[in-house]
Amino acid sequence: MQHAARTLRSVALQHRDRRIHVALSGGSTPARLFKCLAEEFRHEIPWERLQIFFGDERCVPADHPDSNYGLAHRELLARVPIPPSQVHRMPADAEDLAQAAAAYEALITQLVPAGLTGEPAFDLVWLGLGEDGHTASLFPGTRALTLRDRLVVANEVPQLTTRRMTFTYPLLNAALLVQFLVLGDNKAPVIKAVLEQRHHDGAQARAPAAGVRPTFGAVEWLLDREAAAGLAGGD
Ligand code: 6PG
Repeated sequence: MQHAARTLRSVALQHRDRRIHVALSGGSTPARLFKCLAEEFRHEIPWERLQIFFGDERCVPADHPDSNYGLAHRELLARVPIPPSQVHRMPADAEDLAQAAAAYEALITQLVPAGLTGEPAFDLVWLGLGEDGHTASLFPGTRALTLRDRLVVANEVPQLTTRRMTFTYPLLNAALLVQFLVLGDNKAPVIKAVLEQRHHDGAQARAPAAGVRPTFGAVEWLLDREAAAGLAGGD
């Protein structure tokens, strides 16, 4: 997680003249990164220049144990001097989820400058990876995988009998840098599958994460030894 924290520091130092736009990953893995940022990197990051967004969110209130925002707030955002007005929670518990997704998309379009694809270009997007190959809330077989004219949508996830709010491929693939943060031996098989499938269109690839291929940006995989075990040279 140190590498991810150092990346944020170097991105901020590279662009001293402007705001830095970051999308946080959901799930449990980022907890270690958030702790590292709040403790070891607290004085290394220009928090006042960050605009924080979320790549996806569950349909729960901010104080619910499953809330991605809740984890980030507890472990990081409440512990560093980032102006609350610069933290943009995804309102996935809204009554009208589609309307809330459209509003979040409009907020991103307003605050995040367009990049070379013409879409808002995040400086840094952190993503996790599920054992089924999902990332953000782009789950296998779900409608959000097919959308090319939206940036943020509500997404039915029948395999979890729930709805989520999530970034889509056009927004993820407009990013300047995407870092997948993946830990644990249970993820080793899916990492191998995703890296082998990177050349398919996301809608066709078995693993949605394989569709995250920024048009002009870069993707990095930050893995622990266990998660990398299935790769060439992995233990
Ligand atoms: C979510 C996520 C999701 C997550 C993966 C990995 O809201 O659940 O954004 O894509 O990153 O499921 O989750 P873990 O880090 O808990 O393994």
